[in-house]
Amino acid sequence: MAKKDAFESVHFPPMMDDEEIEAVMRVLKSKRLTLLSGKRIKKFEKEFAKYVGTREAIAVNSGTAALHVALSALGVGPGDEIIVPPFTFVATATAVLHQNAIPIFVDIDPKTYCLNPAEIEKAITSKTKGIIPVHLFGHPADMDPILEIAEKHDLFVIEDACQAHGAEYKGKKVGSIGDMGCFSFFESKNMMTGEGGIITTNNEELAEAARLVRHHGEPSWYVYERLGYNYRMTEVQAALGLVQLRKLDKMNQIRIDNANYFTKHLEGIEGIQIPYVSKDVKHVYHVYAPLMEPEKLNVSKDQFLEMLNKGVPITKRIYPQPLYKSKLFQERMGYGKVKCPYTCPYYGKNITYDIHLPVVEEICTRVIGLPNMPFVHKEVLDNVIEKIQQVVRELQTKL
Ligand SMILES: Cc1ncc(COP(=O)(O)O)c(C=O)c1O
Repeated sequence: MAKKDAFESVHFPPMMDDEEIEAVMRVLKSKRLTLLSGKRIKKFEKEFAKYVGTREAIAVNSGTAALHVALSALGVGPGDEIIVPPFTFVATATAVLHQNAIPIFVDIDPKTYCLNPAEIEKAITSKTKGIIPVHLFGHPADMDPILEIAEKHDLFVIEDACQAHGAEYKGKKVGSIGDMGCFSFFESKNMMTGEGGIITTNNEELAEAARLVRHHGEPSWYVYERLGYNYRMTEVQAALGLVQLRKLDKMNQIRIDNANYFTKHLEGIEGIQIPYVSKDVKHVYHVYAPLMEPEKLNVSKDQFLEMLNKGVPITKRIYPQPLYKSKLFQERMGYGKVKCPYTCPYYGKNITYDIHLPVVEEICTRVIGLPNMPFVHKEVLDNVIEKIQQVVRELQTKL
């Protein structure tokens, strides 16, 4: 059981000012707080779709809900397998379980940390229905080969763009490339609504299905056309979203500038590998995530982090192990005592997560996250750089 205050120390405040506060106040004063009574959610959906470059957007109350809604809209169910990366937030995989389907983990690219297209085909079976590439840390996954594989095997592609608002792949905004895109507006994200999410798509039928799943499968009062949920965004969230969306490019630019500042000063330091950026992408640096090289510094990542965090902490552990190593997957936890969907007769296979994907396992022992968020001032960036230089110097004298 997690301690009551287990998450308290981690707080990345969003960049916001009076504009957001006034927008929220206007909603409260209007006394129209929901999708059913207000107009802001629809306006936000229109503006977000326009920004991403899709015909449709469907706002929901989290990125997790967005993924769940997308999977449901695409008809995923018992007996299906969905390919996901093991190096991501857990919701990429648990949304699959929530549709009674099986997440199949495929290894990542050692440079971008995103799903490696070269590894996908080996994992495809007659049960595979789709692929969820994650644009991790704000770096787009390599979408062209992923779409090619999807087309060849008749699979759908859901982009998990929860960390990549405004990122681009070959000139296209992420979220507009696959069949559906999913975004999170959690308060630490590149743009936020406190909690919140949205689904983007060019497919009107899928958009219609997603709208139904979001709201009880109910197109009009007391008419129920499919299994749905209450995943509705609120008008307060949409008011925040409208203001934040207008500021998104500016906020992304601060993340990018901070990242470039780190790169300029960390490049060439023994034992530190600066983050890779593929050509033809716009990386929006949700996280600035270099690698440390334990063999060159003669310490483990955890020892290195402990040294960096002495005094004022400057970094936190990110994704310490591949998802498949967690208890949730090792013990194949699902619904009820019978562990559905793993035991589902429609699945009929006996999958275990006793797997070893070499790249993700190595990246987990190396990756560190440095603070490049918009609220971080230059003195903090300088302090982080100095601390890294100092710790590396200290370690080198011991070699
Ligand atoms: C890659 C990824 N997918 C899904 C989610 C889930 O989003 P939310 O926290 O809004 O439910 C997150 C959020 O951290 C994420 O980073």
